[in-house]
Amino acid sequence: MRDKINVGVLASGTGTDLQSIIDASEKEIIDVNVVIVISDNKNAFALKRAEKHNINNYFINPRGIKQEKHEEKIDKLLEENKIDLIVGAGYMRILSDSFVRKWHGRLINIHPALLPSFKGTNGQGDALDYGVRITGCTTHFMDEEMDHGPIILQAAVKVYKKDDRNELANRILKVEHKILPRTVQLFVEKRLKIIGRKVIISPGESWINKFEYDPDVLYSEGF
Ligand code: GRF
Repeated sequence: MRDKINVGVLASGTGTDLQSIIDASEKEIIDVNVVIVISDNKNAFALKRAEKHNINNYFINPRGIKQEKHEEKIDKLLEENKIDLIVGAGYMRILSDSFVRKWHGRLINIHPALLPSFKGTNGQGDALDYGVRITGCTTHFMDEEMDHGPIILQAAVKVYKKDDRNELANRILKVEHKILPRTVQLFVEKRLKIIGRKVIISPGESWINKFEYDPDVLYSEGF
């Protein structure tokens, strides 16, 4: 068991991605303490999940204040909690350039599509409407552009003709719950090195045999 790092999660919604990190940390599959969850949505179920696991959780109201002020409050909480890594897990707000620069290399995000395809808030629906046969999910370091920073892991997921948006989104989500904790653990193990647009993942233990083989999912190197 290595030293644990402090993780802070930004989430706006249901928080199943957050839950995947909490579960992996409680099972000691990843060496982290989830110490704070911050939301821009008062009703985010993610906050309730945090509460249930005795994790400090805060709603920081974005309304009526400038983005700068809103982020200052978030930044203060992250600093006070000595956060080593911030995870965007369904955080639906664009972060400012200065915030992203400050936390560069310690700020990751998960997106429900194979970037650079289908950026934005409806990656699953957009992929379905476009008619792609394969989509998936991506973890990446954040940079100043939305859904753009250096890619860490990807997993490809098949699209079936019977799929509606919900079915597809749920199938992708199940895979998100594997690649997100895995990405966090790669960070913990200091195996991620950003070189320009690319992330070099140094060799080490793989997670590929941790789960039952699913012929419909293809994991990128590093998983
Ligand atoms: C996930 O699909 C994530 O990729 C996207 O928002 C969704 C969050 O889901 N950014 P949840 O709130 O973690 O259940």
